Amino acid sequence: MLFVGEGEWFVASWRCAFAWLEMADSKSVVIRPARNVLGSLRVPGDKSISHRYGMLAALASGRSRLDNFAPGADCASTLACMRELGCTIERDENGAVVIDGVGAQLIPPSQALDCGNSGSTMRMLSGIVAAQSFTSEMIGDESLSRRPMRRVMEPLRQMGAEIVAANGDRAPLTIHGSRLHGIEYRPQVASAQVKTCILFAGLLADGKTVVEEPTRTRDHGELALLAFGASLEKRHNMISIVGGQKLHAIEAGVPGDISSAAFFLCAAAIFPESNLVIDGVLLNPTRSALLDVLTAMGSRISMLRVEEQHGELVGTISLAPGKGRHVLIEGALTALLIDELPVLAAIAPFTTEGLEVRDAGELRVKESDRLSAVTRNLHAMGAEIEQTESGWRIPGGQRLHGAEIESYDDHRIAMAFAIAALRAEGETMIHNADCVAISYPAFFEDLEKLVER
Ligand code: S3P
Repeated sequence: MLFVGEGEWFVASWRCAFAWLEMADSKSVVIRPARNVLGSLRVPGDKSISHRYGMLAALASGRSRLDNFAPGADCASTLACMRELGCTIERDENGAVVIDGVGAQLIPPSQALDCGNSGSTMRMLSGIVAAQSFTSEMIGDESLSRRPMRRVMEPLRQMGAEIVAANGDRAPLTIHGSRLHGIEYRPQVASAQVKTCILFAGLLADGKTVVEEPTRTRDHGELALLAFGASLEKRHNMISIVGGQKLHAIEAGVPGDISSAAFFLCAAAIFPESNLVIDGVLLNPTRSALLDVLTAMGSRISMLRVEEQHGELVGTISLAPGKGRHVLIEGALTALLIDELPVLAAIAPFTTEGLEVRDAGELRVKESDRLSAVTRNLHAMGAEIEQTESGWRIPGGQRLHGAEIESYDDHRIAMAFAIAALRAEGETMIHNADCVAISYPAFFEDLEKLVER
């Protein structure tokens, strides 16, 4: 079920995006080569932060107002679930999302909680519903129903939850909520969704919960808990929370999503005369490793203004391109760049010295198998690319031609190849491009504003 009003907004925005473009059919988009990328832009609110603020606002007492809430279908899924769990959620006259919190004990849902395509919704919300006094069923679309859920089921079971999953560890999940108790847990995978799930469950559990991450991941869960009034302890990769703390409502603006800005930054990085300014973008150090990679690839990036909003760094950045060196992304850096890897790989053939990515096996279990989706699409464009067990080797200095690209219904694959298409020779057709609405409904429209032909 979609948040009322939200669905109409996607459709309107998607039509609007198409007004700028050549449409082959209702789902495919044709991208023509560009001469340059120039201008300034604000990107939509950060998806990771919007999910967390949406969930915690529901658990808080009072009315939260969230400005620049992420406009995509994924965060609409979170809002729809929170409504199903008893919250009143509306838009004010400025478009901000206004949520009346219910407190720690939510209302039993009258139907399954539909998480759509959103792994973040299913994984993080499972930590909240596991601590309720009722049973919830969580469902998702075909892609989400293929994604592994054991990573959240295992710690929640240790905390006392009873969870039944289809095929062992896939959605639909039936979660029989109960009184949870704190645990000490070391997840096998470096996943911010898993960490946040455990911390949200820990907030509602008896006693103290400790999570120790194998490597550092995005810390929006921790910062959001602090913003809503909880206290936490942090030491190295270890975070502890004591259960039973009450949350209060907040008024907050969600910073622009750096993973969405990534597409335009990468586009600007591959045109010698480009110049791009992005305003109001998230610069949290656990999310901004892309800026270091682009700098190593030769771009000159300046931070024009930086401020803190509810613990999150936000600022204005500018990028001008240049010649750089070969870049190797591996280990802890791979985990920090996980959402930006498809677009970095898609522009790698146009960089001076190319790119190697290692330790990115997690890409296989995203909205699509992003490891092979990137390899197949780059091959289709005539690129030289070697896919390894958990990454790619992609030489720089290549010339690519336009091709038919399959998005695999994965928003980040569709957007990544729209960027590669700008530097290819000839037209590129991206099939099933409507999936960009998962995170960025106006993506093609914004891209056209920055592109010179
Ligand atoms: C997210 C964490 C990452 C990322 C996803 C959003 C989050 O997933 O890929 O897009 O908001 O915590 P994992 O936790 O599975 O790495």
